[in-house]
Amino acid sequence: MRLLIIGCGSIGNVLATAADSIEEIDRIYLTDKVEVKAKEKVNEHPKAIFVRFEDDAIMHAMDDVELVVEAASQEAVRKFAPICLERGRDIMVMSVGAFADDDLRERCYSLSKIKRGRLYIPSGAVCGTDGLRSASSSQIDEVHLITTKGPESFKNIPYLSDNKIDVAHLTEPTVLYDGPARKVLSLFPKNINVAATVSMLGVGFEKTKITLVCDPQSRTNSHLLIVKGPFGEIRAETRNTPFPSNPSTSYLAALSAVAALKSIVANRWIGV
Ligand SMILES: NC(=O)c1ccc[n+]([C@@H]2O[C@H](COP(=O)([O-])OP(=O)(O)OC[C@H]3O[C@@H](n4cnc5c(N)ncnc54)[C@H](O)[C@@H]3O)[C@@H](O)[C@H]2O)c1
Repeated sequence: MRLLIIGCGSIGNVLATAADSIEEIDRIYLTDKVEVKAKEKVNEHPKAIFVRFEDDAIMHAMDDVELVVEAASQEAVRKFAPICLERGRDIMVMSVGAFADDDLRERCYSLSKIKRGRLYIPSGAVCGTDGLRSASSSQIDEVHLITTKGPESFKNIPYLSDNKIDVAHLTEPTVLYDGPARKVLSLFPKNINVAATVSMLGVGFEKTKITLVCDPQSRTNSHLLIVKGPFGEIRAETRNTPFPSNPSTSYLAALSAVAALKSIVANRWIGV
């Protein structure tokens, strides 16, 4: 099996390391808009081959693989997911917040149905998505995600600077956002991809409620997912260790991509 990984940051690197040790994978193409990053990673991964960050080279690699993994940014999803699905290729998307855009999401859904390329969205940094998926087969009354992160996770966010919110000087847990999932994804595009995953699985981007908290004492990225319906109630709490290289990303998110890759390779789906 061959793989193309777009984005050689925290998640892409963990995935490439895992792919190196999976016997069935014989080639890993790596690309990144900062080409030097992909070149560096190629030296660290024996099965890896560098792909220049230009359209022709990426399309060529795409046509030579069974699976494309986006581990880059929402911009990369907008650009590469439709192209990939149009070619009938399978794609795993990590920057799932991009799918708050209804047009993009519906286009990808429809392409994947028509052209038969599969769209994989790992559970990422949140737990409880299995139960939410089951519950969504019937009525759901409420989905509420409460996410708490430390100040390190909220660097370079225009919404905070525009509103003169300086998270570095907070002295107590402070709610930065409380409302529908769609808006939080546009205000904090790099911080709360799980809001999109949960919305897509459950009651959509308008009805899913998100509370985003910055806690100056927090050393984890924590998510409390609450789902209520006739089935009963789910309360799933995850306290994630952040990546040192990217504090807004949780290690579990990378592991969820690795787990999805292993399921794809084995063609074995347990707990779905
Ligand atoms: N689904 C989840 O639960 C979840 C959790 C954490 C992170 N994420 C998302 O996954 C993505 C990767 O996370 P990460 O922590 O590895 O990020 P990172 O910043 O460590 O690495 C991202 C890499 O992608 C590259 N890149 C950015 N835009 C690109 C583009 N348009 N084309 C090609 N390369 C591009 C960057 O140069 C960088 O090397 C981010 O969008 C992040 O928001 C999702």
